[in-house]
Amino acid sequence: MRIIEVSDYKQMSVKAAQHVIGKIMKSDCLTLGLATGGTPTGLYGELIEDHHVNGTSYKCVNSINLDEYIGLSKEDPNSYFQYMCSNLFSHIDIALENTHIPSGMATDLQKECDRYEKLIEETGGIDLQILGIGENGHIGFNEPGTSFQSGTHLVELTESTREANARYFSSIDEVPRQAITMGISTIMKSREILLLVSGKSKQDAMKKLLENEVTESFPASILRNHPNVTIIADKDALTMVQHLHR
Ligand code: PGA
Repeated sequence: MRIIEVSDYKQMSVKAAQHVIGKIMKSDCLTLGLATGGTPTGLYGELIEDHHVNGTSYKCVNSINLDEYIGLSKEDPNSYFQYMCSNLFSHIDIALENTHIPSGMATDLQKECDRYEKLIEETGGIDLQILGIGENGHIGFNEPGTSFQSGTHLVELTESTREANARYFSSIDEVPRQAITMGISTIMKSREILLLVSGKSKQDAMKKLLENEVTESFPASILRNHPNVTIIADKDALTMVQHLHR
């Protein structure tokens, strides 16, 4: 794993955007794996600014999101579909038909998981997956204890994840209890992974990721076995890490 230490959230977002834009420039047709949550909004803001200022085009980019809540329609302001539209898709020239997010309203949820896994394979796999990390080490919505062999699947969200995401809802009761997420093996098939980490709330997770063993009880630890991971982390997130060669 390559670790890039930056001063703060803004610098993390700028560095991540440079990385993503560099890939888009070098590739005829790039498939980007995208994440939601608080961490990547700065990156998306930088991509939008670059699109307006430098004209980087997304016409040949496919996107595949990590996850979606069960029971929220595409129109729901808290759905990850709406998050992606308002934080990125509506502001760049990506074709909406080239963007993919699991449907949290599918009548047959298992069928939707299978469809999504197959879709990722059929698009040729993910070239660059953007990831955040949960305070409990989750990646996507793969909570502690998830099998490293898992493909796209249905999950019960832990209370700590529901509490962490309650800030977007008017009350915790409104936070969905289930989601569809790419599995750990789905994420690990990505050719490259860019993990973004910012803030003191992630310092314990960063320490475990960099210093502890690979274990299903800390899902992000599997990234140590991936051949092409770059972590862009700010100083606050790295506070507890002992052996970083600074
Ligand atoms: P955050 O979430 O970016 O909102 O901190 C990260 C995650 O839960 O994966």
